[in-house]
Amino acid sequence: MTIQVWIYLVSIGGTVYFGFMLYHGYLLSMPNTWNENHRQGFSKTLNVMIKNLTSLYGTDDLSDNITLVTAYFDLGQIYKGPFHTQDFAVYQKWSSAYKFVANPLIFFTDSEQMAELFLLYRKNLPKNATKVVLIKSDELWAFSKAKLIKKIFSDPAYPKFSPNTINENYSCTMHAKYDLLEKVIKEKWFRTKFLAWVDIGYFRNQVDETHKFHLKLPEDFSYQHISFTEINEFNKKLTPMGIIDENAVWVGGGMILGGLELMTGFISDYKEAVGRMLDEKLMSTDQQVIYIMYSNKLPGFTPKIQIQTHTLHTRDWFHLGRICGLPVLHKRRMTDIFSYL
Ligand SMILES: *[C@@H]1O[C@H](CO)[C@@H](O)[C@H](O)[C@H]1NC(C)=O
Ligand SMILES: *[C@@H]1O[C@H](CO)[C@@H](O)[C@H](O)[C@H]1NC(C)=O
Ligand SMILES: *[C@@H]1O[C@H](CO)[C@@H](O)[C@H](O)[C@H]1NC(C)=O
Ligand SMILES: *[C@@H]1O[C@H](CO)[C@@H](O)[C@H](O)[C@H]1NC(C)=O
Repeated sequence: MTIQVWIYLVSIGGTVYFGFMLYHGYLLSMPNTWNENHRQGFSKTLNVMIKNLTSLYGTDDLSDNITLVTAYFDLGQIYKGPFHTQDFAVYQKWSSAYKFVANPLIFFTDSEQMAELFLLYRKNLPKNATKVVLIKSDELWAFSKAKLIKKIFSDPAYPKFSPNTINENYSCTMHAKYDLLEKVIKEKWFRTKFLAWVDIGYFRNQVDETHKFHLKLPEDFSYQHISFTEINEFNKKLTPMGIIDENAVWVGGGMILGGLELMTGFISDYKEAVGRMLDEKLMSTDQQVIYIMYSNKLPGFTPKIQIQTHTLHTRDWFHLGRICGLPVLHKRRMTDIFSYL
């Protein structure tokens, strides 16, 4: 190639890069419209409720750490999105990163093989930092809704998104997050003031880490809200059916963080909303349930607990984790950088 061609290519590359950086800067400067316009303050009733719960749980001796809760249910091959299937081997690889996660961890599974793997991953952490619980999915509230959900999904006119509105067991697994958090709280299987749900694959980018890391409360954490990563701006015009029909996502369900009293309230809101949605013949995954909960358009339902969102407007599914101390990738994949284009 001649020198002119090289100069040409380099200047094109520079212009594209510059444009990308400008766009990135523009995204970062956008306001958080949910927190500024829609998020509601804390009511006196809630304060009383929280004081009540605090005395119930006797939280005075709990540490300021975060206990993480995660789970794996063997659903066989789940067809997720247009490009890949996720099965045991994929989850096995992703979950190996739990050996680096220093937080106390409670792991639920219906797979003895996965239970053994987790004990192995966690063997270099203090013994009391890990609890592995074998559980059958049919013992859970979430899976008791499978028949009803299957019936809703089987309507030929119902929106079809695989697996969200196709596989009733996938939908139930998403509701099970809230069940399992509730179980952890009821059984007092934690010694921390804060709890976080993390999807089993949440540390998929940390499998090649070399050091342990520890998730902590982010600097802008609000003690009066449940924290989520915002993926897309909240659209207050969407109706519950519109949210399901567009497979719309506002906050990501991969990580849910909050104080244990607020989490208790949030779980009760969530379960109530699922019940109301089933009455209305509506269902999808937890991401749509949460969007619908805060749409203020689900008949007969008003959430007691409010959400705070965290975002840089870059559609980063791991943003909440990152501001809690998730190590940055050494080898950031291009797909990761360009995920929001
Ligand atoms: C708090 O506890 C008191 C005493 O048990 C009870 O009367 C009151 O209704 C509770 N308030 C709320 C908001 O749960
Ligand atoms: C939180 O957990 C980490 C790791 O287990 C530990 O080093 C730290 O002392 C704990 N912090 C508090 C406040 O308990
Ligand atoms: C584990 O035990 C140590 C020592 O007794 C204690 O400092 C720590 O807080 C415990 N961690 C958990 C998660 O219970
Ligand atoms: C969901 O699980 C039940 C019980 O294991 C099974 O009978 C059913 O076929 C599953 N549904 C799908 C869509 O895989």
